[in-house]
Amino acid sequence: MSERYANIVGWGKYTPEQVLTNADLERLVETSDEWIFKRTGIRERRIVSPTENTSDMAIAAARDALAIADVRARDLGLIIVATSSPDYLTPPVSSQVQHALGARDVGAFTLVAGCAGFVYALTTAQQYIANGICDNVLVIGVELLSRFVDYTDRSTCVLFGDGAGAVVLQVCDEPAGVLSSVLGSDGSGAEHLILPGGGTAIPPTHESIDQGLHKLKMNGNQVFRFASRIIGKALRQVIQQAGLTSDDIDLFIPHQANLRIIESAAKYVGFPEEKIFINIDRYGNTSAASIPIALVEAFEQGRAKVGDTLAFVAFGAGLSWAAAVVKVAERVQPIPFLHSRRKAPAWISALYPLNTIVIKPLGTVLGFLLVGIQRLTSWFRRNQG
Ligand code: ACO
Repeated sequence: MSERYANIVGWGKYTPEQVLTNADLERLVETSDEWIFKRTGIRERRIVSPTENTSDMAIAAARDALAIADVRARDLGLIIVATSSPDYLTPPVSSQVQHALGARDVGAFTLVAGCAGFVYALTTAQQYIANGICDNVLVIGVELLSRFVDYTDRSTCVLFGDGAGAVVLQVCDEPAGVLSSVLGSDGSGAEHLILPGGGTAIPPTHESIDQGLHKLKMNGNQVFRFASRIIGKALRQVIQQAGLTSDDIDLFIPHQANLRIIESAAKYVGFPEEKIFINIDRYGNTSAASIPIALVEAFEQGRAKVGDTLAFVAFGAGLSWAAAVVKVAERVQPIPFLHSRRKAPAWISALYPLNTIVIKPLGTVLGFLLVGIQRLTSWFRRNQG
């Protein structure tokens, strides 16, 4: 039996129309475009309209990814949505996405791993394909953090933006998709990036809301130190695990949290500037959506293409981190039963060539015969009458 790999065959993104610039933030808090850009690399970010929710962004990105992949939603084997900002605490946003896409009865779950969520989800999806459970898996990274950001706190409100990115992974038999991955977590730093209220520890009360506990709290300096310590190492480890060196990586697509963190990680493994994909200037930190949005833009701009080997690294709330080396392989024309969640038995697939050389021509001949018989019968009827 041949190996099963999970190739990326479709991608899509959704970024809201409304732009929030550094100049806009200057009017809200005591900050400056110069400070924000120098310390983070951010110029502007996208913010959803009051009528949009997390699920809307996820669905829009997913539709594009499915269209490019040419996979029908009902032929998916699984949907994984990575997010820390779902529409509701329950039901899971993944089920809302599954229903809206028309992916009838398809399994779906929501995965929470902060900004590292998309890489966690990608690695999980790859396992379902490699183990023969699914042929097509939709992975979405989506975040609507603007609803949890305190726009009076200058140390957090300048960082975050909203958006969604999605990919479709499809089974293929040549090495593709996630070649190696590193997943990590250190809960001792939980309080450095936390949304304290609204969960079971501090259920929402008038008091908790008055205290602003339903807004994101971050000890930026601690997160910065953690990220600088961990992600270079994770990146080096994941490249080694894939049996590669940094020279073999065509494009480095990091989580877009802070330009200084990205540059220090790239320096640690020796990536030159031209191998780093950066769009933090336009979107800020979109958490679990940042890598898939960057990946889609890299494809659109021709910076990532078929045949390329990519490196992803992300870090965030948990604290947690994840890295992956991903190969984008040439798409092989799917065989007829590939779209199905229930794979056809091997003997049916083996008979498939008969379809074109025997069954189809036989069907055409039978069709002609039937039409002939029909015409003869009506001719006899007319002449007898
Ligand atoms: N404008 C002007 N001054 C500011 C601002 C601002 N927006 N924010 C903070 N400052 C001030 C501080 O008050 C402080 O002033 P003080 O020295 O008078 O006290 C000074 O700038 C320096 O503050 P630091 O926090 O030390 O600044 P730093 O260089 O660390 O930059 C930043 C802050 C940008 C938040 C940085 O720490 C960072 O990027 N951290 C990582 C955050 C991150 O990546 N989070 C991602 C995880 S996301 C997820 O999982 C959802």
